[in-house]
Amino acid sequence: GAQYENIKVDVVGAKKNVGLISLNRPKALNALCKDLFVELGKAVKDFDADDKIATIIITGNEKAFAAGADIKEMQNNTYSSNVKAGFLQEWEDISNCGKPIIAAVNGFALGGGCELAMLCDIIYAGEKAKFGQPEINIGTIPGAGGTQRLPRYVGKSKAMEIVLSGNFVDAHEAEKMGLVSKVFPVEKLLEETIKLAERIGTHSPLVVKLAKQAVNQAYETTLKSGLLYEKSSFYGTFATEDRKEGMTAFVEKRAPNFKNN
Ligand code: CAA
Repeated sequence: GAQYENIKVDVVGAKKNVGLISLNRPKALNALCKDLFVELGKAVKDFDADDKIATIIITGNEKAFAAGADIKEMQNNTYSSNVKAGFLQEWEDISNCGKPIIAAVNGFALGGGCELAMLCDIIYAGEKAKFGQPEINIGTIPGAGGTQRLPRYVGKSKAMEIVLSGNFVDAHEAEKMGLVSKVFPVEKLLEETIKLAERIGTHSPLVVKLAKQAVNQAYETTLKSGLLYEKSSFYGTFATEDRKEGMTAFVEKRAPNFKNN
């Protein structure tokens, strides 16, 4: 596979169908420098294109998932350099991935680290995880979705509190507010995340992709057009072999054999 400097890439799970990306700049608490994001974007794209991979996991280490955008790297940016370079624009590439991405968060997920976790589809956390948007402490505001995704996930009052105070929330609070889906002991987090990825991997990849797209519509549109989108996509599953196989297997009381078709 490709050689990376700021991330590690592995294929894991009993069926070797889970793509694991570990952010790997431990000395900088996995601060998300440009090179790291370019590598991350490539790794996600490659896993998305690989038929053997069902689900992708992004994780960090026990101290940090990621402590944000790289402050040292952007310290001397200017308004015009940001505009000209499209600073942080490549981050949205992650959201073009058709396959589910699960963030497995131990330690700090701050600023861009929290925003990266929110770019993923599901967030699992270790019980020592800390989430926050501390940009306000350094004289700026979130720039990769923190002011937009956070209120959609946790509501206005909590999002305002997090963004305006710069205070951190721990894993259990983050779970209570709906940012995190489940919390595990630190050393169990990765194996539990892989279990979820494998479970998703037992389903039809084609239908998993449609389901992900449909849930994401809920964050893009009105209820009425979202419901219309869902209905069309649901109807559309009836044009697939896998829908036929799934229902036939149920009626015949056997396990389905999905063909991604
Ligand atoms: N960028 C660059 N370097 C960072 C970093 C970041 N976001 N976060 C940590 N580091 C570096 C530190 O500079 C330090 O490097 P040196 O050893 O070379 O000095 C190393 O990582 C270890 O960090 P600390 O010594 O600070 O570790 P700590 O345990 O005392 O504190 C922390 C941990 C509370 C997370 C603290 O590092 C911190 O506050 N980090 C910055 C968090 C932050 O403000 N993030 C938002 C960034 S802005 C952003 O993300 C914009 C956006 O929306 C996209």
